[in-house]
Amino acid sequence: MAPSGPQPALLTLLVLLGALLPGPGNAQTSVFPQEVILPRGGSVVVNCSASCDQPILLGMETPLPKKEILPGGNNWKMYELSNVQEDSQPMCYSNCPDGQSSAKTFLTVYWTPERVELAPLPFWQPVGKNLTLRCQVEGGAPRAKLTVVLLHGEKELSRQSAVGEPAEVTTMVPVSRDDHGANFSCRTELDLRPCGLGLFENTSAPHQLQTFDLPATPPQLVSPQVLEVDTQETVVCSLDGLFPVSEARVYLALGDQKLNPTVTYGNNSLSAKASVKVTAEEEGTQRLLCSVMLGTQTQETRQTVTIYSFPAPNVILTEPEVSEGTEVIVKCEAHSTAKVTLNGVPAQPPGPRAEFLLKATPEDNGRSFSCSATLEVAGQLVHKNQTRELRVLYGPRLDEKDCPGNWTWPENSQQTPMCQAWGNPLPQLKCLKDGTFPLPIGKSVTVTRDLEGTYLCQARSSRGEVTREVTVNVLSPQYEMVIIIVVAAAVILGIAGVTTYLYNRQRKIRKYRLQQVQNGTPMKPNTQATPP
Ligand SMILES: *[C@@H]1O[C@H](CO)[C@@H](O)[C@H](O)[C@H]1NC(C)=O
Ligand SMILES: *[C@@H]1O[C@H](CO)[C@@H](O)[C@H](O)[C@H]1NC(C)=O
Ligand SMILES: *[C@@H]1O[C@H](CO)[C@@H](O)[C@H](O)[C@H]1NC(C)=O
Ligand SMILES: *[C@@H]1O[C@H](CO)[C@@H](O)[C@H](O)[C@H]1NC(C)=O
Ligand SMILES: *[C@@H]1O[C@H](CO)[C@@H](O)[C@H](O)[C@H]1NC(C)=O
Ligand SMILES: *[C@@H]1O[C@H](CO)[C@@H](O)[C@H](O)[C@H]1NC(C)=O
Ligand SMILES: *[C@@H]1O[C@H](CO)[C@@H](O)[C@H](O)[C@H]1NC(C)=O
Repeated sequence: MAPSGPQPALLTLLVLLGALLPGPGNAQTSVFPQEVILPRGGSVVVNCSASCDQPILLGMETPLPKKEILPGGNNWKMYELSNVQEDSQPMCYSNCPDGQSSAKTFLTVYWTPERVELAPLPFWQPVGKNLTLRCQVEGGAPRAKLTVVLLHGEKELSRQSAVGEPAEVTTMVPVSRDDHGANFSCRTELDLRPCGLGLFENTSAPHQLQTFDLPATPPQLVSPQVLEVDTQETVVCSLDGLFPVSEARVYLALGDQKLNPTVTYGNNSLSAKASVKVTAEEEGTQRLLCSVMLGTQTQETRQTVTIYSFPAPNVILTEPEVSEGTEVIVKCEAHSTAKVTLNGVPAQPPGPRAEFLLKATPEDNGRSFSCSATLEVAGQLVHKNQTRELRVLYGPRLDEKDCPGNWTWPENSQQTPMCQAWGNPLPQLKCLKDGTFPLPIGKSVTVTRDLEGTYLCQARSSRGEVTREVTVNVLSPQYEMVIIIVVAAAVILGIAGVTTYLYNRQRKIRKYRLQQVQNGTPMKPNTQATPP
């Protein structure tokens, strides 16, 4: 604001110049009040008085609009000064017979600032860095009594006086995770309490701080190093130590293809999981990228992924179903850079093909030929295999092992006649006695005499028929009894015969000894006990 000039009243100035010069006498001009503090635009009443009773001249010099309040006195005049916009020093002057004099009154205008504004905070403030707070204050007076306070919530950070127009105060505060969401503001304090007035406060609009903490470590990317075309694979990217984790964003891409991960948030960690399926167009080397963005910073990890296509090897049999004795070529073919192994085949030089010749036997029916192909992709070996089964037509067959030709069973025992015919296709089996009576194959039966006989088993398939005789012998219980009786009778008769013989022999000996005694032969002492 331009200082108020004396332009309005050049004439008065000349009078004033005279008045300011020390007069020859003791003439004096007084003013009341000598100091005033008033709100901007306010009014004040000032009393100018002269020391002599009848001054020649008494007045007030001020650029402010003034109004004399009538009636005055002989030596005093009252003026009302209005619309005081700034500090001003109106001057009373008088011209008395003994000289001219003047006196000033000091008007101090006060007003609260028109603008108190905290400069916008950075949208994101990294944790650990200093935050600069800047507050601008426009207007406000008297400046000597105006203080600017920077605030964190209700807490005072810095208190400085307002200097300049507009006044700007700054301070630096270190930022921690706890400051996330905190409100910063600034406040002006116009302290007029020493002048008998109050404390006038104005506060800026608050600004809320957003802090973030992104660790210096890159995210961890877990992915297969080789990806097969048209195969679903999973890629996981994770990072720990994030704050605030809910604000973190993840970007996952393979080459130009943006992946669509499912992100799970922990307390201060996140994990993004995406499934990838690559197409044949992407074959070759591709870059897998994971970026974690938080606040104004990004951490990223790149990884090279090799995309390959590897069709399974093809196992070819000249015919999948052949007759016994036919020659079959088993062949395996794979990708030109692959190496195949055909199982059950003597070692062959490694290459993309393998084959061998086979003469089909019944044992080859149902045999699996599996071919495993190995391909090296980016230093890793990947495997694929294919299996085909050979079917051999043979039979029908009936052999002693699975269809015994001779059964001998005791009558009334429980038995299960077994007979299995072999062949591909599986033959129909029938065992008949006299062309009508069937052998209950596979069923548990009580052996009767009726079961005895010779059965003709016939196995028949589309490949022909074979027959085999099966004899069932039944051992009857009567026959066994006859044997037991005959044996028992023979034993009893034998024992009876031996006993009779021994008894007769003993009697003859005794008779002979008696005869010797009677003939005068001395008798030897008889130590032998005589059997009863
Ligand atoms: C103005 O000042 C003079 C001299 O001090 C005094 O006599 C007079 O009463 C004052 N006028 C008013 C209205 O106070
Ligand atoms: C400043 O505060 C005062 C009260 O202390 C109020 O009257 C004034 O309107 C405020 N100024 C602004 C610009 O808000
Ligand atoms: C951050 O501010 C503090 C004072 O608040 C100061 O001591 C420190 O040196 C500042 N640090 C930086 C990096 O500016
Ligand atoms: C900051 O102010 C906003 C509204 O302006 C309020 O919702 C939030 O709770 C405040 N934050 C703190 C820490 O007081
Ligand atoms: C997350 O924090 C809460 C409380 O601080 C704790 O109880 C919980 O175990 C934490 N969860 C994990 C996964 O760390
Ligand atoms: C053949 O491949 C299948 C599926 O790819 C796998 O389950 C099987 O174990 C493999 N067999 C051999 C012998 O490698
Ligand atoms: C059947 O077995 C019996 C004795 O177990 C034997 O005597 C008979 O000769 C056998 N018959 C045939 C056809 O093998």
